[in-house]
Amino acid sequence: MHRMLTGERPTGPLHIGHLFGSVENRVRLQREGVETLLVVADYQVITDRDDTGDIAANVREVVLDYLAAGIDPAAATIFTHSAVPALHQLMLPFLSLVSVAELDRNPTVKAERAASGRAMSGLLLTYPVHQAADILFCHADVVPVGRDQQPHLELTRTIARRFNQRYGDTFVEPVGLLSDAPVVLGTDGRKMSKSRGNGIELRATADETVRLVRSARTDSDRHLTYDPVGRPEVANLLLLASLCTGEGPEQIAERLDGSGALKALVGDALVAHLAPLRARRRELAAEPGLVASLVAEGNARANELADATLRDVRARMGMDYASI
Ligand code: TRP
Repeated sequence: MHRMLTGERPTGPLHIGHLFGSVENRVRLQREGVETLLVVADYQVITDRDDTGDIAANVREVVLDYLAAGIDPAAATIFTHSAVPALHQLMLPFLSLVSVAELDRNPTVKAERAASGRAMSGLLLTYPVHQAADILFCHADVVPVGRDQQPHLELTRTIARRFNQRYGDTFVEPVGLLSDAPVVLGTDGRKMSKSRGNGIELRATADETVRLVRSARTDSDRHLTYDPVGRPEVANLLLLASLCTGEGPEQIAERLDGSGALKALVGDALVAHLAPLRARRRELAAEPGLVASLVAEGNARANELADATLRDVRARMGMDYASI
């Protein structure tokens, strides 16, 4: 049986880019019988900012988004890594297995440093090692992630391999499931992103959704064509319509006249596609204590797994002093 670990930073509620890019994929894997662990990576929020925002509220929104999208809470372990002390302790031996030069080369970290507009912090440089602990503490063998996470996954595999070489077989080298899921653009034509405020949130209302779609950038060519490179904004709208309806983006472009008609279709299609999710989300959000008890259960299970892994790691490193 496979075990998947993936997750995100609680920097805000999830948007349709997350849904089409990754969350629908996780739901599918879980339904196929893959054991599912989802980390709400709260300590990762401070990699590129000083202010955590209302982190508890963001944890709640993310968990509601998972459940509304179809993650089965009875079968999934949803946890916040700050509540799992043994996980963090794995970072010490893991740090000893990588060089600063290797950490310096990580293109995702470089891009995040540049976007943050500040100096490289010790945590920003080393969080990929921490992310390896997120993955290896539970011996996950599959990690569904977007392409930007590929360097972190390679590092995780390197750490698992080096640990095994030095101390004996302990960790499986996890395999990344790189989604070829589309990169969804935001209303401003740039990649949809929580921090850019250009997204359509899963929790948004139908009216907001229609309004946001209507405000999306397009170009001045009235004739619709599906050309992701030459006409990214129009192609993005066609893609969204296609993801919701199953009709090919080229076909949609052929039968519609102008971007106004396209926006009307995308608005309606998104509202219809998201309606069941949003109805479920409203019900879940109204249940008092639901998210808190789910996260408490997930944290308890994650602690059991992390404690067992840390015990094993220390024993393999010769740090077992019971019969000294
Ligand atoms: N870095 C991931 C992101 O920004 C979130 C994350 C934290 C993660 N720990 C993880 C993803 C472990 C996969 C596996 O989206």
